[in-house]
Amino acid sequence: MNNNSFFITTPIYYVNDHPHIGHAYTSIACDVLARFNRLKNNKTMFLTGTDEHGLKIEQAAKKNKMNTKEFVDQMSIGFKNLTKILNLSNDFFVRTTEEYHKKASRHIWNILKKNNQIYLDKYKGWYSVSDEAYFNDNEITIDKVTKKKIAPSGNEVEWVEEESYFFKLSEWQEKLLDFYKKNPDFIGPKSRKNEVIKFVESGLNDLSISRTTFSWGIEVPDDKKHVMYVWLDALINYLSAIGYPNKKYKDYWPANLHIVGKDILRFHAVYWPAFLLAADIEPPKRIFAHGWWTNEGKKISKSIGNVINPNEIIKEYGLDTLRFFLLKEVPFGNDGDFSKKSLETRINNDLANDLGNLVQRILTIINKNFDGKINKINNLKDNDKELYYLPEKILIEIEENYNKQEFHKVIENIWKLISKANKYVDENAPWELIKNEKNRAEDVLNILIIIIAKISILLFPIMPEVSENILNKIGLTIKNLSMNDIGKDNFLNLSFKIKKPEIIFQKIE
Ligand code: MSP
Repeated sequence: MNNNSFFITTPIYYVNDHPHIGHAYTSIACDVLARFNRLKNNKTMFLTGTDEHGLKIEQAAKKNKMNTKEFVDQMSIGFKNLTKILNLSNDFFVRTTEEYHKKASRHIWNILKKNNQIYLDKYKGWYSVSDEAYFNDNEITIDKVTKKKIAPSGNEVEWVEEESYFFKLSEWQEKLLDFYKKNPDFIGPKSRKNEVIKFVESGLNDLSISRTTFSWGIEVPDDKKHVMYVWLDALINYLSAIGYPNKKYKDYWPANLHIVGKDILRFHAVYWPAFLLAADIEPPKRIFAHGWWTNEGKKISKSIGNVINPNEIIKEYGLDTLRFFLLKEVPFGNDGDFSKKSLETRINNDLANDLGNLVQRILTIINKNFDGKINKINNLKDNDKELYYLPEKILIEIEENYNKQEFHKVIENIWKLISKANKYVDENAPWELIKNEKNRAEDVLNILIIIIAKISILLFPIMPEVSENILNKIGLTIKNLSMNDIGKDNFLNLSFKIKKPEIIFQKIE
């Protein structure tokens, strides 16, 4: 792998249903990290896509009275559109029904077989179609209302008995535990890591990796009766999308980060590294599991009818506002509650008051008093330096927080800079200086423009449109900038031509 390459992935989304806020959440988080890495000039690969095989999808197509292939083609477009709606900077969109993906999956299957990791037997046990997962007897309970047997997810299970190929997962228990020990950052956050380790310590059974009672899947090599278990098929997307089995996949592999929801951590942190180690492929560097959103305090579910459509929120409040809210409102890894009231509070306080006001008042003063033109700085005074050199310190903190996927702390870091800038404005009162010390006023305003530029660069991964708009107002564009511009004396010798400000964030009454 290239040393400064950065490969980040979302889970691939099931096409049985339309995109909702949960999908948007994971995708936005990945996008932020991808954009940050690009601004650091890392060779970045951001992957998302759709998971299109398995019984759940076949049943959804039937329910919609559609041919399965036509159904997945149509539903996949909805997720492709989501990448546009969310302004995602993904470099590729993988689909598991594409030929390159099927080829890569069969290739892995053959390696596992050659490595004596697969055998034929009979599966007898519980299966949840909604989770596309197998369950042991001791994981099944009875739903109080429906009286049906359910998995820990609350989804119904059915009894399955069929011929199946098995993967020798049980052989990997010790090796996985050893792998977690040697790679302490493999699973985040820490609380989830402990859960995974406990699960593995409790013992691993061999895993059924093929099905025979339906056909919507990738055919098992040399045995047409079987299709591959959809999770094996799906996980392989992370390799097929970057060219595997062609050696060029090593340009990006091992992936730096798979971001997933807490419900699918086991597949990524247990099965996936076991499959990979068994196929002599290096596991990814890190898996991070985020929490789940509720809607105004209630579990989001189709049957309750309270699914949040990201499109509607964006139409009402704007995309960058949604991106900001999702990452600021709860620490990544925790569950969070989506409420319009808290979204509106964030808009009024963090965005309109803190950031909006800073930009608005500085741009307005410059336009009113200097006709939009600010000459280069004459003299950096001691009491300017604290603010002037703050961005580079903030960047160090930001980077540490991104490395731990602590997005809310990154935002706190940026807001520390914004509030210091607002304080500097109040203390130096440029509107007073203009009266008798115009040169000093110009220096103060220039320093503030530089800080606003740096705030915009730091904020760009999270709020790309807002940041680019602000940069444009001061005659800059992100296309010519990078995180290197946060450094010490960048922009010091620049004069600026400032455009008239417009209100960036409208307060909500
Ligand atoms: N197809 C599998 C993933 C295969 S990856 C090799 C899958 N797809 S999914 O469409 O059901 O879910 C995708 C993601 O959405 C999961 O990470 C899941 O955690 C997330 N969310 C679904 N509902 C959610 C919320 N209410 N809140 C936050 N995220 C949620 O699983």
